[in-house]
Amino acid sequence: MRLIRTENYQEMSLEAGKIIVKKIHSKPNITLGLATGSTPKGVYDYLIQNHKENGTSFEQVNTINLDEYAGLPAKDPQSYHYFMGQNLFNHIDISEGHTHIPNGAANDLDNECRRYEELIKDLGGVDLQLLGIGQNGHIGFNEPGTPFNSRTHLVTLAQDTREANSRFFHSITDVPTHAITMGIASILDSKEILLLVSGINKAEALSKFMNGEISEDFPASALKNHKNVTVIADRDALKYC
Ligand code: GLP
Repeated sequence: MRLIRTENYQEMSLEAGKIIVKKIHSKPNITLGLATGSTPKGVYDYLIQNHKENGTSFEQVNTINLDEYAGLPAKDPQSYHYFMGQNLFNHIDISEGHTHIPNGAANDLDNECRRYEELIKDLGGVDLQLLGIGQNGHIGFNEPGTPFNSRTHLVTLAQDTREANSRFFHSITDVPTHAITMGIASILDSKEILLLVSGINKAEALSKFMNGEISEDFPASALKNHKNVTVIADRDALKYC
């Protein structure tokens, strides 16, 4: 595991953005694994800026998002479909049909999970996966206790996750109770992983990740079993490391 220490959120985003752009230039038809939340927004800003100012093209890139809330249609402003459009896809030249996010509004959610897992395989797997971490150590929406051999599946969101994410909704009662997420085994299949961690509210989780044992009680610890993980963290997040 490689650790890149940065001063702040901007520097963390810049470091991650530079790595991603370099990868796109060396493999224009790369499959990128993408995440939502506050953490990757700065990276997406960097990619948009780089596309506009340096002409980096996403035309041949495919993207696979980690997760989506169950029950929210793509046009719902709280959905991860909407988030990705607003924060990245609408501002770059990515081809229609090349962006993939689980369909949280599918009638048969279990079938949707199977379809998504097949899709990842059909695209040849994820080359580079961008990840954030939840305060309880979740990756994607894989909550504590999720088996390390899990594939894309339907989850019941932990109460603390719903509370943490309620900041994006009117109230906690509006936060969906379920989500579709790539499983831990699906994430570990990625050839390379970038884990971004920023801010004092992630310091405990990062210290647990860096110093704790590998356990299904702390989903992110599964990443220690992967050969090519880079953690990019800022000073606040590294406070207890
Ligand atoms: C969300 C997402 C995760 C994300 C995490 C942290 O629930 N499902 O993929 O990494 O929580 O979010 P944030 O970056 O906003 O702290």
